[in-house]
Amino acid sequence: PTNSTIFSLIQPTGKIHLGNYLGAIRSWKDLSEIESEGTRYLFGTADLHAITVPKQAQQLKQYRVEAIASLIASGLDVTKCTLFHQSSVPEHTELNWYLTTITSMGMLNRMTQWKSKANQEESSSIFEEKVLEKTKAGLLCYPVLQAADILIYRSTHVPVGDDQSQHLELTRNIASSFNHVFGKDYFPIPKTLLTPAKKILSLRNPSKKMSKSDPDQNSCVYVTESPDEIAKKIRKATTDSIQGKLYYDPEQRPGVSNLINIISGLTRKSIDDTVTDLQWVKDHKQLKDQVTELLVEEFNPKRHLYEQLLNDKPYLDKICREGTDKAREIASVNIGQIRALIGL
Ligand code: ADP
Ligand code: NA
Repeated sequence: PTNSTIFSLIQPTGKIHLGNYLGAIRSWKDLSEIESEGTRYLFGTADLHAITVPKQAQQLKQYRVEAIASLIASGLDVTKCTLFHQSSVPEHTELNWYLTTITSMGMLNRMTQWKSKANQEESSSIFEEKVLEKTKAGLLCYPVLQAADILIYRSTHVPVGDDQSQHLELTRNIASSFNHVFGKDYFPIPKTLLTPAKKILSLRNPSKKMSKSDPDQNSCVYVTESPDEIAKKIRKATTDSIQGKLYYDPEQRPGVSNLINIISGLTRKSIDDTVTDLQWVKDHKQLKDQVTELLVEEFNPKRHLYEQLLNDKPYLDKICREGTDKAREIASVNIGQIRALIGL
């Protein structure tokens, strides 16, 4: 749509994996290639979110650089997209505080993700003494910062994978509350743009999503991985012992269905068409070979560009500096208007 602001971030907490690619980055690229008058595209790293789980400083630095290189290597055009690190634009954290004052603890407690990060059962109450003692407030308040990230640019559309739906719903609630309390219609109510690809699951344990924070490196295939490594990981992917004709059943056959989702995502075909196309497949090995072939084809050129980019830190710094300037230009105007609405 014209005059939209399209915004999304990725956490610099590890190498960018297939789930991030199909669930987020490829759709950022697709959106930014649509010709639409006056539309802005803002993408970057959520480095302030990354520190809600403790990180080594050197490691975080490296992941930030790698994330920007991955975004460019994955095809984002730096002349169309503004790329930056969240922490470089201090207006995010200022708005975060204002939004904290209008967000109820109950709403935050109903968010399920902080509980899984705190290794808690979703049903356990925050008021349980033990949970409270070991969980940092940042983990609970994380979705407010996410709302601030989106709203500081008065974003209209947020392309994310479906693990983020609940947080986006909260952002909409917070935007409405702010509009109600301080200024009719100041914030557009941002729409979630769910990516068409299905959520990609861990290769080793298909009851979990593929995630950067998974300590098992074999659970993820990375955008920057070599063909040999990709082949090895896909070979080791958990499937099942059901023989015969291939069929899609995420409940009973999560591993095989995940591989079908990967093929469907990469080829942009529906699940039904993908399964029909795969009727020649006689066993799990053939299915895996097909997945490997498509992944190598998709990622190989990206890996070469990524390696070049990582060897050119001054270029990456320049892109981030220019992105930060553009982002701050918008954010500093908006934060002035927000302060005025609040009476500061
Ligand atoms: P991670 O969980 O790997 O650390 P992030 O929280 O940084 O990923 O998410 C970055 C983007 O990637 C988000 O838009 C998220 O919805 C998407 N995403 C993350 N994991 C997956 C997955 N397994 N499948 C599809 N999309 C995903
Ligand atoms: Na995550």
